[in-house]
Parts: sequence; structure tokens; C-alpha cells
Amino acid sequence: MSETNAVNHPRVALVTGANKGIGYEIAAGLGALGWSVAVGARNEELREAAVDKLRAAGADAFGVPLDVTDDASVTAAARLIEDRAGRLDALVNNAAITGGGPQEPTTVDVERVRAAVETNVIGVIRVTNALLPLLRRSPSPRIVNVSSSVGSLALQTTPGAETGPVSVAYAPSKTFLNAVTVQYAKELAGTNVLINAVCPGYTATDLNGFRGVRTPQQGAAVAIRLATVPADGPTGRFFDDGGEVPW
Ligand SMILES: NC(=O)c1ccc[n+]([C@@H]2O[C@H](COP(=O)([O-])OP(=O)(O)OC[C@H]3O[C@@H](n4cnc5c(N)ncnc54)[C@H](OP(=O)(O)O)[C@@H]3O)[C@@H](O)[C@H]2O)c1
Repeated sequence: MSETNAVNHPRVALVTGANKGIGYEIAAGLGALGWSVAVGARNEELREAAVDKLRAAGADAFGVPLDVTDDASVTAAARLIEDRAGRLDALVNNAAITGGGPQEPTTVDVERVRAAVETNVIGVIRVTNALLPLLRRSPSPRIVNVSSSVGSLALQTTPGAETGPVSVAYAPSKTFLNAVTVQYAKELAGTNVLINAVCPGYTATDLNGFRGVRTPQQGAAVAIRLATVPADGPTGRFFDDGGEVPW
């Protein structure tokens, strides 16, 4: 599709976990830019409430039933987007869980680790691979993996850096996600698909009992920026609002 056609037809984004928190605000921000937004969410009531709210704000939003841990759900989501939009211009892999607490390495219930990796890493790979055929139909495909600076090994090993509580599930799942992002960027180098990881910063959402200090709108900004970067934009890198985050 030419750039002209892309202007005539609104760009299409899928945001996973878009029913609340940062994901909802990423959907709202892309909707405000004129994008058509697929609201990926596993709970029907919450999904439809989010779609209604986005539409009331003027966005072209539609609901996509999506559990990132479920193959059949992800396959059906890709089919729904293909039927509805025919292509995808941006995929924002936002859905994640902490795995619950406590997460000290020496005493952790390993099921917490398994759950965090299943959603935060394998879920991203599952969704990305199911949507890549639709992304490849876009003139400017973008993938944004919503990670966290707590997954930065560089920051985790920098004395005095703020990297949250000791965690052998959530934080390493984001380290794993960062590594996965780099591997996708390497395989997709030389194509027009740009893939980056972002950190929204410590944001007040359900994920942390609303203890975060940033608003969900502030948290969403960096993902919106990377979902909309031009063709000469970065790939295989890690950003927050302040710039590049060390791996
Ligand atoms: N908040 C922060 O301070 C912070 C900091 C750094 C990074 N992040 C990252 O930002 C992203 C958004 O987090 P948030 O703070 O907005 O958390 P949140 O309010 O808890 O939202 C998480 C979203 O993910 C969805 N989700 C979880 N498991 C899912 C699954 N299996 N399938 C589909 N959706 C699923 C949730 O759906 P349900 O409503 O159905 O549970 C919810 O929509 C996450 O990747 C998180 O790791 C957050």
C-alpha cells in the first residue's frame, strides 16, 4: 500500500491488555491521532466498556477478545483483525502480569515465575508471530514491546539505581522480553518492520496497587511515540521518556 493510500485508510493498531491502565491510554492516544484501534482484552465486559469509552472520545475502536496465553484466542484475534481491517500497522505488546508476590529467588513459588514468563514473554512471541502476516501488509509496520527498566541488567547492577524489589519472576521476565526484542530486531533487520522495547516509568495502575507516581497517560506516551516512528526510526532499542534505557 502506498503512503497516500495509508493516509486515506486510517492506520490500524492492536494494543494488548487495552482494557485498563497504560494499555487503555495507548489505545486512546493512538485513537486521538486518527488510528483505528483494536482493543485486545480477555474480559468481555471490561473490553466492551473500554471500547465504548474510546468511541465516546471520538476514537475508531473495536474490541478483540484476546488472552495472550491462549493459542486459539490469539489465532482468532488475528483472524478478526484481518476480517475487520485487512492489515495491521502497529502492534503494542502491552499485556503483562507481575506473577504476584513474594518473589525472592530463594523462596519463590516457581509457578509465579512460570506465569510471568508465560504472559510477559511467550505471550508476546505468540501474539507477534500471529500478527506478523498482517503487519507485513503495512507500509510501515511497528512493534512495541512494553517492558520495564526493572528488566535492565545494567540498571539492576548499578549501585543506587531504582529497580524495585528483589524479584525472580517479574523483573527477569522483562529482561527476557528485552532479549527477545533484540532477537526479533536482528531477524527483521533490512525489512520495514521496526521493533523496540519501552518502559512507561513507575505508573499508577492495578499492577502496583496504584502506587506509581506517573499517570497512565504519561506512561503511555513512549509506546505511542515508538508505534508511530517514521521509516528512519530506531529498531532493536529500549526507550523511556528520558531517552535510551541501557539493556
Ligand atoms: N505500572 C507501572 O509502573 C509499569 C512500569 C513499567 C512497566 N509496566 C508495564 O506496562 C504494561 C501495562 O501495565 P499496567 O501498569 O497498565 O498494568 P495493568 O493495569 O495491570 O494492566 C495490565 C493489562 O494486561 C492485561 N493482561 C494480563 N494478562 C493478560 C492475558 N493473559 N491476556 C490478555 N491480557 C492480559 C490485563 O487484563 P485484565 O484486566 O483482564 O487483567 C490488563 O489489561 C505492562 O507490560 C507492565 O509490565 C508498568
